[in-house]
Amino acid sequence: TTEPLTDLHGRRHNYLRISLTERCNLRCQYCMPAEGVPLSPKGALLSREELARLVRVFAAAGVDKVRLTGGEPTLRADLADIIQSIKEGGGVRSVSITTNGLVLTRRLVALQRAGLDALNVSLDTLRAPRYEHMTRRAGLSRVLAGIDLALQLGYKPVKINTVLMKGFNDDEICDFVEFTKDKDVEVRFIEFMPFAGNEWDDSKLVPYRRALKAVVERFPDLQPAVPRPHDTARVWQVPGFAGSVGFISSMTQHFCSSCNRLRLTADGNLKVCLFGASEVSLRDALRTGADDAQLDRLVRLALRNKKPQHAARRTVTPSRRVPRGAGVLLAARA
Ligand code: GTP
Ligand code: 5AD
Ligand code: SF4
Repeated sequence: TTEPLTDLHGRRHNYLRISLTERCNLRCQYCMPAEGVPLSPKGALLSREELARLVRVFAAAGVDKVRLTGGEPTLRADLADIIQSIKEGGGVRSVSITTNGLVLTRRLVALQRAGLDALNVSLDTLRAPRYEHMTRRAGLSRVLAGIDLALQLGYKPVKINTVLMKGFNDDEICDFVEFTKDKDVEVRFIEFMPFAGNEWDDSKLVPYRRALKAVVERFPDLQPAVPRPHDTARVWQVPGFAGSVGFISSMTQHFCSSCNRLRLTADGNLKVCLFGASEVSLRDALRTGADDAQLDRLVRLALRNKKPQHAARRTVTPSRRVPRGAGVLLAARA
């Protein structure tokens, strides 16, 4: 084991997010054009063996949590093998996926057997016509069946990522809260973020405080849950409900000062921030014969470029932070 991956701002990095493919079986309006995105040739992607090797290097430096994302990670036919190889490499206590949930009913049993520890399901609406409009595909009932299967298989909590967009799904906030009544899911309302080409603008953002206010108006006895370190979400619960509700305030109150994440793109580039550029191709280093110590050094060099916070707009100053507590919230500015 080597030194932990600490950056110049004192943040320790123990969480690696790996994109396994740029492909997706949905075409969400805010993410992809109808015709899809340009894809890297298959040989450009990291293979299962390369992934396992890189994760071992990160694990030796203290990374103990790996999340597999995409695109849609379940489109990798070798997803279960990848999970198994990462687990066998040792040092990683949690391997999770972020998925659109479309094929969970077919794949989840095998994924669990391979060692999958947790899953987050992206779902922005509970209404079928809206789902089809939003994703340009059918499939809501399959996603809901996938969520039920995950609960049946004992995943706890199953997190649901709901990106809020004003005028599109902000009228469903309380429906999503109701969804947690009988199901032990953690619904997380996410502030819409600007990414290249997604037509983000300020008017589509639902600030987390406004979303929380909508919940508190309908569920006045909402209670804050005990915060988990490094959590992207502030979590609340309606007393008596099986699940919980979280808010991810990436835009209005970013959480960069406690960031513990590194990212690997599907073609093997290391990124030190969600909003940042690629720093170095670990794939190229690996394919030209770098040993583990050299790979480790490249990661540390890249980490020196990590900024204290992301450059997206609309971040409030710490003095305007709202203390936890529903009563206080209602009194605060929206
Ligand atoms: P957990 O491991 O369950 O805490 O998942 P997560 O919240 O880290 O990951 P997930 O893939 O479910 O992402 C949910 C949302 O978190 C995304 O839509 C982003 O809004 C936000 N998020 C994830 N990673 C980052 C990050 O590195 N920086 C910022 N600013 N936001 C992030
Ligand atoms: N803003 C916020 N969240 C987004 N996601 C995708 N695009 C955006 C965006 N522009 C979410 C997905 C997925 C998670 C990893 O990121 O819904 O749940
Ligand atoms: Fe993008 Fe995810 Fe939607 Fe696929 S499911 S189009 S990757 S947001």
